[in-house]
Amino acid sequence: MKETIVNNIKIPPGITLMTDLISMGYDPKIWGDPLNVRPERWFKENITKEQRNSWMPFLTGPRICIGMNFSLFEQKVFVVNLLKRFKEMKLVPNGEIKPKPVGSINTPQYEKFIIQFE
Ligand code: HEM
Repeated sequence: MKETIVNNIKIPPGITLMTDLISMGYDPKIWGDPLNVRPERWFKENITKEQRNSWMPFLTGPRICIGMNFSLFEQKVFVVNLLKRFKEMKLVPNGEIKPKPVGSINTPQYEKFIIQFE
């Protein structure tokens, strides 16, 4: 291990650095309106390079999660199986998300459910 410099900040050997994914995910400078549910923000024609680079639940680089593709596929299978059980799924009107972050690696708690299944 050796000293390194990131953004003019000297990092001594032995220091553990953690990526603050929650701050990146809720940064209005990156997302504009991070608290609004707008699935269309993920459409290829809407997403910016900065936004794409800020979404990294599996992190990035040479130690990126090797289960990423498997997990993304598994999540689609899960959602399809869930949706098959309901006639309709809709966003609750004015369903603004109010996250209460509880730590940098924990999932935030939400005050409201924003999806209604019938
Ligand atoms: C939602 C599901 C998952 C998330 C959010 C996730 C996230 C992560 C993250 C953040 C890392 C650390 C990457 C780094 O240090 O740069 C990691 C590493 C790893 N993940 Fe996942 N993971 C998920 C599912 C899985 C699954 C399903 C598998 C295996 C089938 C898996 C296998 C691994 C392995 C082996 C590593 C270590 C890679 C290395 O150190 O080279 N993960 N994962």
